Amino acid sequence: MTPRLRHLTTLEHLSRESIEHLLDRAIALRDACAHGTRKLDTLAGRTVLNLFFEPSTRTRTSFELAARRLGADVVNFDIGFSSSAKGEALYDTLHTLEAMHLDAIVVRHKVSGTPDELVRHAMSGVSVVNAGDGNRAHPTQGLLDALTIRQHRPDFENLTVTICGDIRHSRVARSDVHALGALGVGEIRFCGPAALLPEASEFPQCRFTEDFDSAIEGADVAIMLRLQKERMAATELPDEAAYFKRYGLNNQRLARAAKGCLVMHPGPLNRGIEIADEVADGAQSRILEQVANGVFVRMAVLADLLAR
Ligand code: CP
Repeated sequence: MTPRLRHLTTLEHLSRESIEHLLDRAIALRDACAHGTRKLDTLAGRTVLNLFFEPSTRTRTSFELAARRLGADVVNFDIGFSSSAKGEALYDTLHTLEAMHLDAIVVRHKVSGTPDELVRHAMSGVSVVNAGDGNRAHPTQGLLDALTIRQHRPDFENLTVTICGDIRHSRVARSDVHALGALGVGEIRFCGPAALLPEASEFPQCRFTEDFDSAIEGADVAIMLRLQKERMAATELPDEAAYFKRYGLNNQRLARAAKGCLVMHPGPLNRGIEIADEVADGAQSRILEQVANGVFVRMAVLADLLAR
């Protein structure tokens, strides 16, 4: 039997069995809640706090929907209108909120390692879920990407996955590599300008290139990433038109990939910079499937952590 999670801050040390268990549970919950049209009582009496110190559309909304569809109460902590704005320390905020009784904290923070810090300081019995920390990890995005790929191409060992864009600053790329590596993906290619690629020593299992035309050649999955300007110095910003010319995914480039190549993007999209409209809205785009799967994967994670 797969051991239940206590917290989820990274996928780095999760086994293939644990990841497959979460993906299977996501599908089971999707069916049990009839794609969101039926509410479950799995987490009745439980309280989930969304504590987002960085903006989010997809992750925050889907954690809220996931918790509600499982019957939990949800509190969306509004940082802008909280006492954080008056200088309250993170741990004082944490202990204040815990005193009101919580079962899980879903946290997003610009500083890598914040979720693990919260694990160290949280009251026993409170689970911490990482909704994205700095450039380090976005574990539920890694899971939802793996689920989306599995629905179309369960033969992970035969797959070539190309991840293109600002990988250096990307927590999504890191969690994708952890998930896809554990699931046995045959080849993972990293592509982007040298300044936006991570150190090769961090990813000995990936192939690196600055040439997108060769990176997309024969790929079964293309995961496009945006330029994360919020994590770059002004001098690091590439010229957007030149970037699109070299690294933007358009139909002409997609034709070099394997037939039926899945086009993915974690969002938010910057159209005309890393992806053309014709591809983002095209027949091979799986972007909205990723969004839909995000709710089911987050239901699986919350249920695994909190169900009695
Ligand atoms: N993929 C993702 O994390 O999107 P949001 O920033 O909108 O949550």
